[in-house]
Amino acid sequence: RDQSKKQLSEGMDLLTKFYHYLLATAKFGKSGMNYLNDRGFTKDMIERFQLGYAIDSWDTATSLLERRQVNLGQMEKAGLIGKRGFDNKYFDRFRNRIIFPIFNPRGQTVAFAGRTLGDEKPKYLNTPESSLFHKGKILYGYHLARQSIRKSNQAVLLEGYVDVIRAHQAGVTNSVASMGTSLTEEQAAMLFRAAETIIICYDSDTAGIEASFRAAAMFQESNKIVKIAKMPEGFDPDDYIRKFGGERFKSDVIGASQTLMTFKMDYFRRKRNLVDEGDRLLYIEEVLKEISTLKRAVERDHYLRLLAEEFSISLDALKRQEMQMYKAAK
Ligand code: UTP
Ligand code: MN
Ligand code: MN
Ligand code: MN
Ligand code: MN
Repeated sequence: RDQSKKQLSEGMDLLTKFYHYLLATAKFGKSGMNYLNDRGFTKDMIERFQLGYAIDSWDTATSLLERRQVNLGQMEKAGLIGKRGFDNKYFDRFRNRIIFPIFNPRGQTVAFAGRTLGDEKPKYLNTPESSLFHKGKILYGYHLARQSIRKSNQAVLLEGYVDVIRAHQAGVTNSVASMGTSLTEEQAAMLFRAAETIIICYDSDTAGIEASFRAAAMFQESNKIVKIAKMPEGFDPDDYIRKFGGERFKSDVIGASQTLMTFKMDYFRRKRNLVDEGDRLLYIEEVLKEISTLKRAVERDHYLRLLAEEFSISLDALKRQEMQMYKAAK
């Protein structure tokens, strides 16, 4: 079993190098390199993240694996190559895609994601779980971010591969990605073992914002500080940094991140027209309901005061109503 894990790991390392070599070789890697250049990736980032390119071919990776006598059945199971039903021949699964190797904390490749150069579906083709790869336990970029997370005592959680690479490029080297919007308990645990403050910076679309709330809730039990970073609607960190630059990302997005409650209050506020009395009451109720879910009394008190000040209403009345909700929720 250990032997087969080792073989799989060697096969993946071989392919990491191979795809990376293809990208760097003018004859093969031109369209991949053009794509990355157009997206503004530096040579340094291509190296650090060992990005690669799978050429538009059905047998290039497969014949390399064959020549090197890698166990093809094992490679098929790990999703690196496919097998045709009608003649049992193996073929390359990644064709004409940018390759993002996914590393474990020790920096060994455990999976791959391949992105189309255009807008074919799926946008990212991911290899499945294997003896080396349990998706829920890996954070993309963690092997490169770990030191910086410890040093800053802060971790920045993003959604996507490209976001992490771009953030590192901009100097935000304590960034990692959950690889999509569903953060797992294991991923959350990795982060709060490593840092005091977690900043969630998911894509600024409905899916990303709702997912930030769910992710933040997972950290609430721990005694950590969870903040949410906000970007203009429709942006993800990669879009933002490309448009406004890394310095503004640091100051206006990461630096301006808010606690979950402040972020929620903002979000609820924007949904309503607070000049309207009915909307105002609905907003207050919505916020009270959120406050009543907070574990710490000091925190509940803090936000009740903010709310009372915001609308010049009596703190006592708010406290009474919140207490009812708090009890009801228990
Ligand atoms: P996004 O759709 O936000 O993609 O998915 P992205 O990271 O911004 O990628 P670009 O900028 O279009 O290249 C966020 C993350 O969700 C996972 C990937 O980890 C991706 O980075 N995902 C998304 C997939 O695994 N498969 C998909 O088809 C789409
Ligand atoms: Mn290289
Ligand atoms: Mn997204
Ligand atoms: Mn995105
Ligand atoms: Mn993007």
